[in-house]
Amino acid sequence: MNKASEQRRLSAGQVDVWCCATDDPRLLAKMDRYLNMLSDEEKQEYEQRQHAGQAEEYLASRAFLRTVLAQYTGQEPKQLTFDSNDFGKPFLPAHSDSVSFNAAHTHGLTLCAVTSGCDIGVDVEFQTDSQGMLDAADDYLSPAEMLALREVEEEGRLSVFFRSWTLKEAYLKARGKGLSIPLHDFSVLLDGLDVSRFDADDAERWELRLLAQDEDFTAAIAVAGKIADIKAFHCLPLVEMSELGQLAELLPAAKS
Ligand SMILES: CC(C)(COP(=O)(O)OP(=O)(O)OC[C@H]1O[C@@H](n2cnc3c(N)ncnc32)[C@H](O)[C@@H]1OP(=O)(O)O)[C@@H](O)C(=O)NCCC(=O)NCCS
Repeated sequence: MNKASEQRRLSAGQVDVWCCATDDPRLLAKMDRYLNMLSDEEKQEYEQRQHAGQAEEYLASRAFLRTVLAQYTGQEPKQLTFDSNDFGKPFLPAHSDSVSFNAAHTHGLTLCAVTSGCDIGVDVEFQTDSQGMLDAADDYLSPAEMLALREVEEEGRLSVFFRSWTLKEAYLKARGKGLSIPLHDFSVLLDGLDVSRFDADDAERWELRLLAQDEDFTAAIAVAGKIADIKAFHCLPLVEMSELGQLAELLPAAKS
């Protein structure tokens, strides 16, 4: 089968979310081949990260991103050329009409969300320092979100905080303008795991969804359009690739 016939197609409103445990020991044997997938600029970044001890994770996450995105372009992973907007949001200039994507990393986990024809953002947060996060919650949340958070029973408050925060970050990342959009100027209100209300100056354009949450991680996406379907996949580049049965399996604990 040639590369073009293997190319993944995205139907209208379809979102594919891919995960990779970049600290999986099976990746270590592939590092030389991952290096061959990188551009000169990425190789330089890899060298710089050697000193900080983050080089292997960086290499694995670039190989993951290239392997995932190559499937939607019909190109080989090493052939992909990235560009980024003024705020650093990456895109594929040769495929920007047909492939939109965004990636997020935390604690050995990288997610990449892919769709077609509209902006997308993904975020994944690792849940640490509970009291510290809650004490600083009003730095991140709007007055309406703070009001809703205070109504939650104390034992569930941290989970709800992380849902709101991760959804807000996904929206910011979809807009692609970083923190130039003030966090207090928009609100994501929740009913359990569902977004019950989204208040922003362009709210009608967007759909925000919580993907998964466990005691360590929270993951969410924001899409500038209607989401028809979300599929979850796992990819360890050059090791294995599979579709997952449920969104919860995007998080490491659900897979182990
Ligand atoms: C985008 C941003 C919110 C992500 O923060 P984070 O929680 O630390 O990181 P995440 O793991 O969620 O996401 C990182 C990934 O998001 C993507 N990304 C980078 N900039 C982005 C942006 N402006 N919008 C959306 N996605 C972005 C990249 O794929 C990045 O991965 P990489 O570092 O491997 O390239 C943060 O980097 C930010 O605010 N950037 C904007 C900075 C800015 O305004 N710069 C102005 C330069 S003049």
